[in-house]
Amino acid sequence: MQDTLFAQTGNGIKKIEVNATTNLGKIEPTMWGVFFEDINLGADGGIYAELVKNRSFEFYKPLMGWTVLQQPSREGSVLVLNRQEAQTSNPRYLSVKLDHTKKGNLSIINEGFRGMGIKSGLQYNFSVLYKQVANPIQLHIELVNSKNEIIGQALLETMNTHGEWKKLNTSFTATETEAKAKLKIWFEGDGEINMDMISLFPQDTWKQRPGGMRADMIQLLADLKPGFIRFPGGCIVEGYDLAQRYQWKKTIGPLEERQLIINRWNTEIAHRPTLDYFQTFGLGFYEYFQLAEDIGAAPLPILNCGMACQFNSSELVPIDQLDPYVQDALDLIEFANGDTSSNYGRVRANLGHPTSFNLTMMGVGNENWGPQYLERVKIFEKAIKSKYPNFKLVYSSGTDPGGERFETLNTALRSMKADIIDEHYYRKPDWFLNNATRYDHYPRNGSKVFAGEYAAQSEFTVSPNNKNNWLTAISEAAFMTGLERNAAVVNMASYAPLFAHAEGWQWTPDLIWVDNLRSYGTPDYFVQKMYSNNKGNKVIAITLEGNTLIGQDSLYASASMDTVANELIIKIVNASSKIQNTSFSLTGVSKVSPLVNTLVMQHSLLDMNSFEKPENVAPKASSFKIKGKSFNYELGSYSFHVIRIRLIQ
Ligand code: AHR
Repeated sequence: MQDTLFAQTGNGIKKIEVNATTNLGKIEPTMWGVFFEDINLGADGGIYAELVKNRSFEFYKPLMGWTVLQQPSREGSVLVLNRQEAQTSNPRYLSVKLDHTKKGNLSIINEGFRGMGIKSGLQYNFSVLYKQVANPIQLHIELVNSKNEIIGQALLETMNTHGEWKKLNTSFTATETEAKAKLKIWFEGDGEINMDMISLFPQDTWKQRPGGMRADMIQLLADLKPGFIRFPGGCIVEGYDLAQRYQWKKTIGPLEERQLIINRWNTEIAHRPTLDYFQTFGLGFYEYFQLAEDIGAAPLPILNCGMACQFNSSELVPIDQLDPYVQDALDLIEFANGDTSSNYGRVRANLGHPTSFNLTMMGVGNENWGPQYLERVKIFEKAIKSKYPNFKLVYSSGTDPGGERFETLNTALRSMKADIIDEHYYRKPDWFLNNATRYDHYPRNGSKVFAGEYAAQSEFTVSPNNKNNWLTAISEAAFMTGLERNAAVVNMASYAPLFAHAEGWQWTPDLIWVDNLRSYGTPDYFVQKMYSNNKGNKVIAITLEGNTLIGQDSLYASASMDTVANELIIKIVNASSKIQNTSFSLTGVSKVSPLVNTLVMQHSLLDMNSFEKPENVAPKASSFKIKGKSFNYELGSYSFHVIRIRLIQ
């Protein structure tokens, strides 16, 4: 398999020249970013650290995730009430009627998202919205392990709220680490209590924000130093139908007013149904902007353009009713950037961020296509550009990197001078190798490219057997030399999807895998990190015996300058099974540091990472000494190298 997959190599030492005086284009700060979508339990059950599933009883089945235990059973003592008319965004709540209930007689248990990941010694914040009219009731809050033993507990006493909803909080420390814990609440007392928004969060969230995000997952993102973060998707932007599209205004403000909807990945992948998958929007647009700011990434929201997913319902809003969609886009810009005297700027300030989030770009539609798409985006463009002339818009080129659909959109978008065109490719590893030159012939002027979703598929797109192995990662590394070499055209790129829960995924491969307690980066993750942490800001020429190095003898390369650190950065992939010996000469530099730093990934093609061996496939750092401006360098079989050389003026 190994030798037929890639071209054979020639013999002898390969002479490679890197010329620092060349300038093949600027590398934008946004070049390497991340694509976030709530797929594979990415948000709920993923980065959103809420441990209670279906905290507001709004899932299709109101008690999904909950078990009621009662001895002896009493008809009507636990009911789901629906105040639809009074509270449209969060109509349901739980009513529990007690009749001098004693210890253990009545309890409700939440199973979490495939269990709750609990850490020994860590503090947990419990909260509930409740109302009651009679005597105090005792709520016994317990975390139990898989053997039903208590591993954390607290006692809360309610009071007569005279029919008003009040919030009750407590914190307690867990005494054991458990990946599959459950939350049990049992009642003691007499009378009726109504409950909603039953919530449990760890205190070790990202930046210790109460109700925040899972720190280990966000740290993996931050370590990428991403140039941008695209959110919230992906197909969830479009929704199965328009009613289920993503609407950012419904994701900000008090949690209990954020109206939950089904996650379109719930039933989308027939062989991986996830019937308990909903979007609670606890992680909403304010939080996404905050996340972008935290990790130093430019925010890139993608908005619905009046079209539902064309693989699903294909619903369209009639053109004469598109205004609210366009208004959502205009209001989002004001929400992100407007000063505090503007309507939505004030909303942002009231949420805790008076200064701008510096939004400079937005996507109109995700994977939409056809004349109906072009008709709609022109309306968005006119409205947005007439108010914000310098604001950049990202447009869809459909689902595939070629074919009639792509060609039609690409031609039309380029003729309307689209700022940025979003291209997607989920293809086999050999496609990535064969397409490392894809952008070499793209026009240097005009629309820029956003490689908005890509990942090598070891089998085929949406195969449940796709793996994140060294084969997929090294083929992406080779392809990315072509992205970097053409940074004058490709201004942004992001692997997709980003996260997957090992027990709750729908789509594989993914960049980062998690379970309830652990997370690891795949080989593909480390390739992304090698690029984004060694970016440079100017592309320079790298040639093999006078020709641009674009796959000859299975060698793929790009080179850049970091003019701030004054370093020359070479990225080179040997995608063959043979060791290849090279000699590098550096031209256009007067003197270089004798110490050269390298990061190298060299593995067998089927090697993977896992929870047990998270860095089985990961770069190794080393350095070597050189004399003068040339050096010999060995490229092992199936290897990817980043070589950094400091210039001395
Ligand atoms: O990344 C998974 C899905 O692939 C995205 O939601 C969609 O845009 C693409 O089809």
